Amino acid sequence: MITWNAQQQTFHLHNQQISYVMGIEHQRYLVHCYWGKRIATFNQYHDYPKLDRSSFSPTPANWPDRTFSLDTVLQEYPGHGAGDYREPAFEVRYADGNQVSNLHYLSHQIVAGKPRPEGLPATWVETPDEAETLVITLADPVTHLQVELSYTVFRDRPVIARAARLVNKGDKPLRLLRALSCAVDFPDGEFEQIQFPGAWARERQWHRQPLNPGISVLDSKRGASSTHQQPFIGLVRPETTEMQGEAWGMHLVYSGNFTARTEVDAFKQTRVLLGINPHGFGWQLLPGEGFQTPEAVMAWSDCGLNGLSQALHRLYRDNLVRGQHRHQTRPILANNWESTYFDFNEEKLLHFARNAKQLGVELLMLDDGWFGERNGDTSSLGDWFVNQQKFPLGLRPLIDQVHAMGMKFGLWFEPEMISRRSELFALHPDWVLSAGEQPLSEGRNQYILDLGRPEVRSNILEQMSTFLEQHPVDYIKWDMNRNMTEVGSHTASPERQQETAHRYILGLYAILEALTTRFPHILFECCAGGGGRFDPGMLHYMAQAWVSDNTDAASRVHIQYSTSLLYPPIVQCAHVSEVPNHQMGRSTSMEMRGAVAMSGNYGLMLDLMRSDTERDKAVSEQIAFYKQHRELLQFGTFWRLVSPWQNPDFAAWMFVSPDKNEALLMAFSLVSEASAPLRKVRLAGLDAQATYQVDDQPQPLGGDELMYRGIYIDPPLSRDYTSRIWHLKRLP
Ligand code: DGJ
Repeated sequence: MITWNAQQQTFHLHNQQISYVMGIEHQRYLVHCYWGKRIATFNQYHDYPKLDRSSFSPTPANWPDRTFSLDTVLQEYPGHGAGDYREPAFEVRYADGNQVSNLHYLSHQIVAGKPRPEGLPATWVETPDEAETLVITLADPVTHLQVELSYTVFRDRPVIARAARLVNKGDKPLRLLRALSCAVDFPDGEFEQIQFPGAWARERQWHRQPLNPGISVLDSKRGASSTHQQPFIGLVRPETTEMQGEAWGMHLVYSGNFTARTEVDAFKQTRVLLGINPHGFGWQLLPGEGFQTPEAVMAWSDCGLNGLSQALHRLYRDNLVRGQHRHQTRPILANNWESTYFDFNEEKLLHFARNAKQLGVELLMLDDGWFGERNGDTSSLGDWFVNQQKFPLGLRPLIDQVHAMGMKFGLWFEPEMISRRSELFALHPDWVLSAGEQPLSEGRNQYILDLGRPEVRSNILEQMSTFLEQHPVDYIKWDMNRNMTEVGSHTASPERQQETAHRYILGLYAILEALTTRFPHILFECCAGGGGRFDPGMLHYMAQAWVSDNTDAASRVHIQYSTSLLYPPIVQCAHVSEVPNHQMGRSTSMEMRGAVAMSGNYGLMLDLMRSDTERDKAVSEQIAFYKQHRELLQFGTFWRLVSPWQNPDFAAWMFVSPDKNEALLMAFSLVSEASAPLRKVRLAGLDAQATYQVDDQPQPLGGDELMYRGIYIDPPLSRDYTSRIWHLKRLP
């Protein structure tokens, strides 16, 4: 998978699908040559145009001619101060105040498998033959900074995983100002960029625009990957569609502040950078110490955006998520939040549970409000003991009765937070993130615990472990409802204050590692006021995530369509809720709410305190249908067919079983029109040679005609917010 050509001085990382090529220029600089479709061999190493531009593009010291400059050459981990004026991948301030770094190739090593970065989430392999890893060491002979760049190529995936480790080999401290995970210099600028801007309840909006000359930055400075952006950058050719064309995706396995930058330079070359946001970041490295960056996943496809997302779906399902839930079908849960909010007790919840059970629900999820003195969002975060008013006998009787009904039990926690009105705050007011004497800003009446501190982590772990040892909880919804302000730590020295945000994320990962190891049977759902920390870092520990607090099916069609570019449906929690919808006030049909929820990880957020014969009949039928097709919906291949981002009135997608014997097609009418244009959908992912029985079609249809000619959505979905599902089965 990795070839080193000593004569040419090139590295070629390859499998059946992709090639990634680098070279060492004049035994010194690590330069980028190619990333894309598999090529047999790379023979053009010395063809980079040799032009004398040295007036404004300086030549490195002691270089044989003026045609080489770091200002223009394609690089792998560019620095700053020695001739490259583009955006750097790293920046260091040395003890003498200088900020010039000049990295030279020192050595390399190729190892089987994929070593695990300590303390950080990452993709992983089960056996060493699934991947190979190249570690290239670069060193600055003057400053003694060393950088180890690691590149893993997966045997069967069009994916490379990259990370960097910066080590201080000198004898004086140095300060990292920027330490990104990767840089890729593409030789041209003919790209469009895909990104997902958003906000609370409007996460991951689809945005595609041409790359312009100069720098463009997508980022989060919120202390979390955020609802506002995704730690991802997608590049496609202008002609790329869902079904064809080249697509590159770079995704950071990290949950905190990030930056994703592109720079189209004066010669129309494109640099892409991804990593921890340098804004507000600084890291002191004492002699001998190292700093490990998060991993960047880099996927490529020439089968359009569906090809790219299917590669990511498989990687994340099989090689990012861990634990026993990874390949297990996920339970259907009913969450009480929109039904009761904070107003519940054991009796009410038992009523809710019985109704849920009758519908076919498999897990009762008790949301916010069961602990401390929590009756609203103004108190008790940090006090993880049972609310005596609501549960005078504790939670155990409720859990036992839910279990006795044959359902599992899930519970809400928000362990990273603290309310001013809490016992924990009374005892430890200095455990919050804070910046000296600056007054503390509030977000939802709460502050953030400083997870970089060991005593804070121990307290969270101890409270949760004690609780979980006494209560047989099967599922945890882990919430996080505000972004960081006054980012600083009571205990850090002035030189280390800028490490706080990253230390927080490392602390969070340490807590999750400990809890998931101690309680491997618990299935975790990642939530952050909806999808505010829906990222590959969290997915490493938590096998599923709440997509958005917006449960309106029409909004969800958009949000889930975008989310599916990166994440498989099985990790996207989606619930059927009441109409008019609590966030949007919109009424959508029950079948559409069901189809949208089934397109993710299906659950209910219905008001089950009241029964409604018609609604309950429809929901029971949905659940029965979902159970029948759950394997296909949770583990099938997902295809986006018609984008709601391009068609304001219509969307369609489908699921195909791995053996292509079965499929489910779903179409959604968003806004209907009188005398509407005809709607026809071309299917995808079927066996072109096979014949399928399609639900309502009078006669069997060929896989080829279904894919190349398509079918009419007939009769058309003629009302707003309706949907239809077709089941396809291969005929013998
Ligand atoms: C925000 C979550 O996204 C909601 O689903 C709910 O759990 C509330 N927090 C509870 O406070």
